[in-house]
Parts: sequence; C-alpha cells; structure tokens
Amino acid sequence: MAKTIQAIRGMNDCLPSQTSIWQFIEANIRQVVANYGYQEIRTPIVESTDLFKRSIGEVTDIVEKEMYSFDDRNGDSLTLRPEGTACCVRAGNEHGLLYNQQQRLWYMGPMFRHERPQKGRYRQFHQFGVEAYGLEGPDIDVEMILIGARLWKAFGIEGQVELQINSLGSAEARAKYKAVLVEFLQQHHDKLDEDSQRRLLTNPLRVLDSKNPDVQSIVKNAPKLIDHLDEESQQHFSLLCERLDNLGIEYTVNPSLVRGLDYYNRTVFEWVTTLLGAQGTVCAGGRYDGLVEQLGGKSSPAVGFAMGLERLVLLVESLNLPNIHKQGVDIYLMAMGESAQRSLANIAEAVRNTNPSLRVQQHCGAGNFKKQMKKALASKAKLALIVGDDELENNTVTVKFLAEDKEQINLEMAKLASLGSMI
Ligand code: HAM
Repeated sequence: MAKTIQAIRGMNDCLPSQTSIWQFIEANIRQVVANYGYQEIRTPIVESTDLFKRSIGEVTDIVEKEMYSFDDRNGDSLTLRPEGTACCVRAGNEHGLLYNQQQRLWYMGPMFRHERPQKGRYRQFHQFGVEAYGLEGPDIDVEMILIGARLWKAFGIEGQVELQINSLGSAEARAKYKAVLVEFLQQHHDKLDEDSQRRLLTNPLRVLDSKNPDVQSIVKNAPKLIDHLDEESQQHFSLLCERLDNLGIEYTVNPSLVRGLDYYNRTVFEWVTTLLGAQGTVCAGGRYDGLVEQLGGKSSPAVGFAMGLERLVLLVESLNLPNIHKQGVDIYLMAMGESAQRSLANIAEAVRNTNPSLRVQQHCGAGNFKKQMKKALASKAKLALIVGDDELENNTVTVKFLAEDKEQINLEMAKLASLGSMI
C-alpha cells in the first residue's frame, strides 16, 4: 500500500464532527460585530517579511523564532502572517482608509507561528480580530472590552473568562521606566534565567512576562510601570477604569501585563481562563497609537484585539453546552421501486423549495425498505418521506416520524410546506 501523507505538525484538520461548534462561534461573532457597526476587512495570508519585522518588533518571540518566512521565486522575503493587526494597518495605509478617518474593522482567518504545539497552541491557528482607527479617548477601549464581554455571553462562557488590564503609557514614559527596571533587575542578575538575562539587554519589559516562577518572584518586587506613567496616560487609564466600573465590568489591574508585541502603548488587556491549562489567554489586545505612522501612514490613534478561535472552541467544548452540535439532517427521502427512484430528486427539490431552512437528504441508489430505513436513522433525520408507486399515483408522500412515537401520515404534494411544522 502507498504511504499515507499526514498534515503538518501543529496544523489541524477541522472535521465534520467539529465544524458545528466552529460555525456556532463564527455565527455569533458575525452577529456581534454587526451589532457594534464594524465592517469586515480581508487581507492576504502572505505579506512581505518587513511588515512584521517593523511592526511586531525585531526582538520579539514572533519575529525572532516563530515566523514562517521564505524567499519566493523573485527572491523577495515573504511571511505567512503571524497576526492580523500589521496587515490591517498596511491595507489601511495602502488604500487611504485611515488618514483623518474613523474606521471600525474586523477580520477572521488563519495565522501562522512556528511555536511548540500543545493544547491550545498550534502552528496554524485562527484569529477573530477587531481594529478601530482614529479614536483617541478611552471610550473606544471600553467598546473593545464590551465586544468581548458580549461574545462570552453569546458563547455561554461568561464567568469562565477574567479580564486583566494594564497601561504601558507613552513611549517616552516607557523608556524612562525601562532604565529604572533594568537597574532593579541588574541587582538580581544571577537569579534570572538565561532567557531573562538576554531580554534584560534586548527587551527588558518582557522579563516581567516571564513564566518562570523564580523570575516571577523577583519581578513581583520590581518597580511597576503603572507607577511611572506620564500624566496623560494616567488620566486615560483612570477614565477607562471609571467607565468599566460604571458598566459593572469586573477587571483586575495586572502590572506585569506587557504583551509580546512591540507596537502597544497605553491600554493593554487580556481575557484569561483557568480551564485551558498553560494556554489560557483567549483574547488579547490594546492600543497601538504609533503603528500607523511607523508603517508609513499619517499618524492615527488605534486600538484592537484578537481572539484565538481554537481556544474558544476548546473552552465551549469543555463546558458541554447544549444545542450547539447540529449534526445530521431534518428529512430523509426514501424511494420504493424504480419509478419512485426516478422521481425522488424532483420530490426532494420540491421539499427544499417549500422548506428552504430544512436540511433535506435523498437516498441515492436502490435498496430495500430495511436498508433505506437504516440509512434514514443513521442520518439522524426527524422525518422519513417514503415514496412508492401508490404515492406517485396519488401525488402524495408518506411521512414517517423517526423521533416521535406517532402514526405515519399521508401528505399531499401540494402541502409539502407544512413539513417544517412537523420537525
Ligand atoms: P496575540 O496575543 O499574539 O495578539 O494573539 C491574540 C490571541 O491569539 C491569543 O490571545 C490567543 O488566543 C491566540 N493565539 C496566539 N497564538 C496562538 C497559537 N500559536 N495557537 C493558538 N492560538 C493562538 C495579537 O495577535 C494581536 N494582533 C492582537 C491585537 C489586535 N492587538 C491589537 N489588535
């Protein structure tokens, strides 16, 4: 036998048994973004490598070791997008969507990072993201958080995810704080792990984000960025907190929340759960007021977030919520005899024409009653429609109730529309 070919490690198929839960999540997302007046943007999956280097930052995990980059046949360095924010800004600048305008955009699709695969962390994963441009005040930051909160309700996972917020202040305030932080960390240099010692030189704020418990115990006593904010950022942050309080949205201020991408300033936030083990961040984002200009556009304030859809699927699955798995069909049509077999597609089409929202499947090929009924039951249909010579002659179908203990009935073809009410 020929050797079978398998999917790439960390890149998953989504099988029919799982697609209903994905569709449930995607349908709710579409509904909620429409509800807030956001418009969809679709950008290519491949971009020039420079785009991500210049936005996410050269000294980040993503750019240093996780990108799928390759030279194309022209010798240009291209990269499978590891995230959507840079792509959105690139497209916005290129098509003049951002300068002096307000935009509320959303996107959904695959992203690629060469990370070590584990539960909730994959090499191809999917993000739903939202980006808003041209809005400076904290009210749009609040809107970002409200969209998340509304989605948790729609998914039935409210109460399972917790909001953490922080402010990174302005670039200048952060530069000043970096010096204070480096001085503190230098005093504990021996106790830092190798990665943190390296970060201390390249990107010291990322030491705050270390998952190593020994480093965490040092970081606990480090000076806090939130105590070194510039006055405007401080005001922005306290207004954000005030609005969240007014709305009754619970949150924790986490001074160690710094995010792994370089473009952020002021508000950053993450929604985290304890139900997924190490990969508990289901949604993350914040402000990136400098990025539009950094990528060649005219300066525009910006804020956004992205959710990992695989993590949401795992979370929704783990809670075993009812009514999500919509498998099988509603109606299965069976043909008894050759004439019926010839007409079955016409009748199935008539059923679909009169009941556009029902899932209707016809038996294909021949087979005795027992064999066809076995297929009807396997299809999980609620009704079997049986067509034989008698039915053809009288212009009727026999309706058999597969999910209820009810006598079968004879239904005139002219009344096929009433099938919907029998499901
Ligand atoms: P991020 O924190 O890199 O931010 O990713 C956002 C979310 O994507 C994570 O919280 C997680 O749920 C999911 N995610 C990331 N990597 C993986 C992976 N390897 N496997 C599965 N899920 C993953 C961003 O990407 C920013 N662009 C978010 C943003 C938008 N900030 C402003 N606007």
